[in-house]
Amino acid sequence: MTALTDSFGRRHTYLRISVTERCNLRCVYCMPSRGIRLKAKSELLTLEEIARLTEIFAQLGVEKVRLTGGEPLVRNGIEELVEKIKEIPGINNVSITTNGVLLKEKAHSLKSAGLTSLNVSLDTLRPERFELIALRDYFFRVMDGIESALFAGFHQLKLNVVVMGGINDDEVLDFVEFVGDKPINVRFIEYMPFKFNGWSKANFVPGDEIKRRISAVYDLIPAGASNSHSVSKDFSIYGFLGSVSFINSISEPFCDGCNRLRLTADGFIKPCLFYPLKLNLRDLMRSNASDAELINVILRALSMKPEGHPSTEEILNMENESMVEVGG
Ligand code: 5AD
Ligand code: SF4
Repeated sequence: MTALTDSFGRRHTYLRISVTERCNLRCVYCMPSRGIRLKAKSELLTLEEIARLTEIFAQLGVEKVRLTGGEPLVRNGIEELVEKIKEIPGINNVSITTNGVLLKEKAHSLKSAGLTSLNVSLDTLRPERFELIALRDYFFRVMDGIESALFAGFHQLKLNVVVMGGINDDEVLDFVEFVGDKPINVRFIEYMPFKFNGWSKANFVPGDEIKRRISAVYDLIPAGASNSHSVSKDFSIYGFLGSVSFINSISEPFCDGCNRLRLTADGFIKPCLFYPLKLNLRDLMRSNASDAELINVILRALSMKPEGHPSTEEILNMENESMVEVGG
């Protein structure tokens, strides 16, 4: 099925769904310091509405779904949603990106619900630093959460680390060492600019620089791309249970192979993370629209998807939503 092909020939098989804008952390690079206005509950899609839209996307060729936020595990009924989406014909992968705070409680139930894989965001291995970055003292909860996830059987769990110069870039080697004896894929992610998120050229560390620092100590063995849309460059290390990846979204944009669409928590389709463009599926759905009418709007959004994202300077000057509103 190639219904979701955009003006640049890119086929879209991957849908990222934000299930809430709320979060139990306040990561400085994600939440703007002035805070965000949370939407009323009635503005958010219900679980049934999310499932209906996902079914339509699946009919159009989407195969993989990622649930994001805010923090997806604060949404009530998240396990039920995983189960519902897992049952949709055509969907073969349902994953979650979480900050891990609630994983200790939820890892097993998510596994039972059929969740395919988990990405956990963790930017430091030092408890005192965690609070400086996330503005909450939950380091040990996250570490317990990671342990519970491994115990529940989420192997090749992904650990997302946003590398920020002068803040946590001195921990790169500690993270590599951390996965030596654990089935964890640590992924170093380039710090992306958003309005009011503290990004500057001075604290941006390119992925290649991080890789150089690691290569000075460890022999990184290229693992080959897991699939053609893979945004990460993956490496193994001899004798290591875990592995290391780099996601160089800024220094080497991967817009050419982009296969993602986004659905916001309040039911807008957003074809590109870095452009403010979004179209309202919620109100249409609530006015009893047919599947065909919803498909029309989805295809219209897709036809407006830009070829690539703007320069970092342009992004900083744009009126766009913060990461926590859109969902990484
Ligand atoms: N740059 C890079 N990654 C970010 N994330 C949130 N904000 C940024 C940013 N400015 C990541 C989080 C998490 C996912 C939800 O998005 O670390 O892994
Ligand atoms: Fe919450 Fe994730 Fe944003 Fe941190 S990065 S504030 S955990 S949504």
